Amino acid sequence: MPRKIVVTSALPYANGPIHIGHLVEYLQTDIWVRFHKMCGNRCFYFCADDTHGTPVMISARAAGISPEELIGQVYKEHKRDFNAFYVEFDNYYSTHSPENRYFSELIFSRLNKAGSIVKRNVEQAYCQNCKMSLPDRFVRGTCPRCKAEDQYGDSCEICSATYRPTDLINPYCATCRAGPTLKTSEHYFFKLADYEQKLKELIDGGYAQKSVANKLNEWFKAGLRDWDISRDGPYFGFKIPGEENKFFYVWLDAPIGYMASAKNYCDKNNLDFDKLWNSGEYELYHFIGKDIMYFHALFWPAMLIGAGFKTADKLFVHGFLTVNGEKMSKSRGTFIEADTYLKYLKPEYLRYYYASKLTDGIDDIDLNTDDFINKNNSNLVGKFANLASRSGPMLIKNLAAQLGQLDDRGRQLINKLTTAKDHIIEDYEDLKFAAVVRTIIALADEANRYVEQNRPWVTIKTDLEKTRTTLTAIINAVRILTIYLKPILPGYAQKIEKFLNVDKLKFADVETLLQNHRINDFQRLVERIDKKQVNAMIEESKEGQGLKPPGPAEAEAVVTEPFKSECTIEDFGKIDLRIARVVKAEVVEGADKLLRLQLDVGGLDRSVLAAIAQAYKPDELAGKIVVYLANLKPRKMRFGLSEGMILAVGTGGKDIFMLSADAGAKPGQKVL
Ligand code: MSP
Ligand code: ZN
Repeated sequence: MPRKIVVTSALPYANGPIHIGHLVEYLQTDIWVRFHKMCGNRCFYFCADDTHGTPVMISARAAGISPEELIGQVYKEHKRDFNAFYVEFDNYYSTHSPENRYFSELIFSRLNKAGSIVKRNVEQAYCQNCKMSLPDRFVRGTCPRCKAEDQYGDSCEICSATYRPTDLINPYCATCRAGPTLKTSEHYFFKLADYEQKLKELIDGGYAQKSVANKLNEWFKAGLRDWDISRDGPYFGFKIPGEENKFFYVWLDAPIGYMASAKNYCDKNNLDFDKLWNSGEYELYHFIGKDIMYFHALFWPAMLIGAGFKTADKLFVHGFLTVNGEKMSKSRGTFIEADTYLKYLKPEYLRYYYASKLTDGIDDIDLNTDDFINKNNSNLVGKFANLASRSGPMLIKNLAAQLGQLDDRGRQLINKLTTAKDHIIEDYEDLKFAAVVRTIIALADEANRYVEQNRPWVTIKTDLEKTRTTLTAIINAVRILTIYLKPILPGYAQKIEKFLNVDKLKFADVETLLQNHRINDFQRLVERIDKKQVNAMIEESKEGQGLKPPGPAEAEAVVTEPFKSECTIEDFGKIDLRIARVVKAEVVEGADKLLRLQLDVGGLDRSVLAAIAQAYKPDELAGKIVVYLANLKPRKMRFGLSEGMILAVGTGGKDIFMLSADAGAKPGQKVL
């Protein structure tokens, strides 16, 4: 009996483009779905854009369009990118849909009836000027702990303290810089703790991987707190029934978007939604990244349980993408958008590379650009495609494109390939794609050895029929390897199907042979990657590169970092810049971004706290000639007094460059 399976990936935010980090998830899920379909299972893959919330509203404002228009544009871009990477959803929908409103209201009212919703007053930051409540990240100000300026409303980038936006000293609205007021407002809360026991049972029953279960246990120990599920207007989202100006928080309706997408599909295709979503007849799996575990392992199943819906059979959590060992970064050019990637490279290189790295664990996966080039060139091109290009053209040219039959040696080779089938299927099922790829490479090596041993390029001159027999075995090996690779490389597989003149390959086809059959013309399968392509892609991805018109993501970046108020030339004239020499630099205990610098400013000793620890090591600084802002009012910080500051530019983190002066400049000397 074929299985019936419903699969979802997390819904990407509609406030920015798809990038190669997202693609870890969508490619992992797509490979798994394609695998099931190829096994003959009835499998549905549902997803949607996650459209609600403050960032979308603000981006739309900044672009001078309505949120609906903005999410409409982004929807098209997302679909285009997924398509290009062969991510094949059965339905790609939107959380801004009637189905989603319906289910959000239904679930909310059922939770309410169950007594799981309470109302409570909260104090929140409100901007009179923008006329809206400010989410944590939209309030900035001075850190209450270390007194660093310009910090977010939820945590300090300098001392890593976490706090509430109302704790900030001198808070201001990140959009317009006005000082926010405090406003008391009644919010709805979901009593998560009511579901602790049921959630524990779910986790014990194998709802998530071991490492995820461990994390959850930490959360249980820390205690489950009520979850604030409402936001005051203006807010782009669904209004809470019976309320004038309160909306469901985006994370309430986002996972419900899975149901809405399924419902929309069922209605269009005459399927019974209740059976598909809520009966034991279908298995249900969610794929997500590790950053959104809390929502999918606690809030979401608790909401479903409370509202009388079935929970998923399993949550598959994956790790985050790093590039060359580091977080994706705009300054390094490794924050690569799907769209930019496609200008330089074929989608299947990335599919193949991710597959070769993916396991069932939640460890981060690293895209090492040299390894990426290597793996594709030596395996995809050198092993798989090569096998076809060493046999196909010869058969077409010399043997009328006609396959013969296998002899004993050929059968031996093919047997080795077919017996790997169960193992490969098991690894696919268990999300051990790296193991799948390793097995397939070993089989391809076996087949390439067969070619070396039987030397068809030699025998073709003396014995045509013997050569036909040899090539028949090789072509059968190509066919089986293609079946194994097809969930990972659907486009490549399609080319091979055309070349072999066969129907769409399924796993069951491993059991049959292709004999006495005529093949079609051979077309080139894959090209080698040239390092130049990768370098060019990275160059274009560097911040400020490329000539793209500002899209919604950029528009948002502009509003969240607005210009400060005007500064006159007289104001500017007040600053006194001097040459200083770094005498000593040391790390600051408890502040991983700060270094303490002892400066010689022409006979005067000054001590400065500088937020450059991620960009510079203390021992590379001693003796450096730097530019010093001498008349800045000294500031007492948690970590001591900072007298003035040294000048550096950059966007923060590793991307900070100290201004330095000629080595001959004298400490104390004026800088113009
Ligand atoms: N909108 C929420 C999900 C709502 S699900 C009901 C969201 N969106 S997202 O666009 O930020 O991320 C979508 C998915 O991509 C998430 O599962 C996230 O973990 C994953 N990834 C986003 N960046 C990633 C990497 N750099 N690496 C790996 N996965 C990443 O979260
Ligand atoms: Zn404002």
